[in-house]
Amino acid sequence: MSTFQAPKGTYDLTPPRSAMFLAVREAISAPLRDSGYGYIETPGFENVELFARGVGESTDIVTKEMYTLTTKGGDQLALRPEGTASVLRAALEANLHKAGNLPVKLWYSGSYYRYERPQAGRYRHFSQVGAEAIGTEDPALDAELIILADQAYRSLGLRQFRILLNSLGDKECRPVYRETLQTFLRDLDLDEETRRRIEINPLRVLDDKRADVQKQLTDAPKLRDYLCDACQAYHEEVRALLTAAGVAFEDDEKLVRGLDYYTRTTFEFVHDGLGSQSAVGGGGRYDGLSEMIGGPELPSVGWALGVDRTVLALEAEGVELDLPATTSVYAVPLGEEARRVLFGVVTELRRAGIAADFAFGGRGLKGAMKSANRSGARYTLVAGERDLAEGVVQLKDMESGEQSAVPLAEAAAELAKRLG
Ligand code: HAM
Repeated sequence: MSTFQAPKGTYDLTPPRSAMFLAVREAISAPLRDSGYGYIETPGFENVELFARGVGESTDIVTKEMYTLTTKGGDQLALRPEGTASVLRAALEANLHKAGNLPVKLWYSGSYYRYERPQAGRYRHFSQVGAEAIGTEDPALDAELIILADQAYRSLGLRQFRILLNSLGDKECRPVYRETLQTFLRDLDLDEETRRRIEINPLRVLDDKRADVQKQLTDAPKLRDYLCDACQAYHEEVRALLTAAGVAFEDDEKLVRGLDYYTRTTFEFVHDGLGSQSAVGGGGRYDGLSEMIGGPELPSVGWALGVDRTVLALEAEGVELDLPATTSVYAVPLGEEARRVLFGVVTELRRAGIAADFAFGGRGLKGAMKSANRSGARYTLVAGERDLAEGVVQLKDMESGEQSAVPLAEAAAELAKRLG
C-alpha cells in the first residue's frame, strides 16, 4: 500500500473538481432554503440501535454495510449510513415537533458511510444533501419535495434524469399484500438466500436484478391492486400535483427502496448516463419511523440526493457549471519593497470584498505571471522598484492584454471600479 492512498472505496475532493461539489451542494440546498427548510446538522455517528430500529434489521444497509464500533466506554456506535433516522432522532430530542409548527422542515448536507463493494458511482464514503418534512400527512408536501429536487437538478443544467414514482401502501394494506406476495414467492424456484428474503422482506425480491428471477415474477401480485382506498387517493393526489406542476414522472410499481421505513409515496431520481449505479437521489414517505424509534406518531416525508453521483451525472452530460473565477486580482511584486507594498494592496482589496491573490515566495516575473494566468484573475498588479519610486503600479487587463500605470494610492479604488 502506498502511503498516499485514500482508503478503499473513498476518494478525496481536490481543486479544481472540488468546486463542482460545492456548487452542487449549493444548488440542491437553495430551493430548500427558499421553501422554509431550516438547516440541521447531526453527529457523524449514532447509537447502532437507531439504525437497526429505524432503517431496518432486514436491510443490507444494517446487516452488511454499517461501520460499527465499540467505544472504550462500551457504547455501540455506527457511522451514519443515511440521514433520515438521525434527523428524526434529533428533531424529537429537541422537541421541534412540539413547537406548534408542523411540518418541521429541515435540510442537511454531509458525509455518509456504507461498507459496500466499491465501483463506479458507489463509494464507502459519500455525500448527500437531504430534506425531511416531519409531522404532516399531506400529498402537497410529498409533491413539494419532488418538485424542489427537480428544480435543483434543472438549475444545475441536468436534463437526462427521470423520476420513478410508486406507492408502497400503509400499515392497513401493505401487510395483506405482503402475505399474498409471500405465498406466491414460496412456490418459485429460488436459491436459499432469496428464500430467506421472502420471509424477511418479500418486496425486495421484486427488485432482484437476475433475469431468471425476473422471468418468474411476471405474474407476481401487484401492490397497486392491493392499495387501500386512502392510499390510492393519496397517491392520485401526489400524481395530480406533480402533473399540474409540469414535473414528468414514470409510474414504477417495481420501485422498492433499500430502507424499511417507507410507506405510501416512494420515488427515485435516476440518470441514464451512469451505468448500474443510476440512482442520483431517492426518498419517500415514512409515516411509521417515529414510532419505530420510540417517538410519537409523526407522518413524514423526505429525500436525499447523492452529491457524488450528481457530479458524475453532470460530467456524463458534459454540463459545464458556470463557476465564477475564484480570483479577480493577482498581485506580482518584484523585489522586497514591492512585496510589502503589494501585500498591503491585496489585504485592502480583500477587505473591500475583492477576491485577490498574491505571488508568494519571491519568484521571478515569468513564474509569477504563469500563476497569475492560472488563477483566472481578470487583472494583475505588477510593481518593481522603479514603479514604487514613481508612486505607481502596473495594472494589466488579462483579457485585453492592455497595461497602464495607476497611482499606488488609487489602485484599489480603480480595481473596485473596473470590477463593478
Ligand atoms: P438512499 O437511496 O439510500 O436514501 O440514498 C440516497 C442517495 O445517496 C442515492 O440515490 C445515491 O445517489 C446516494 N448514495 C447512496 N449510497 C451511495 C454510495 N455507496 N455511493 C455513492 N452514493 C450513494 C437514503 O439515504 C434515504 N435516507 C433518503 C430519504 C430521506 N428518505 C426519506 N428521507
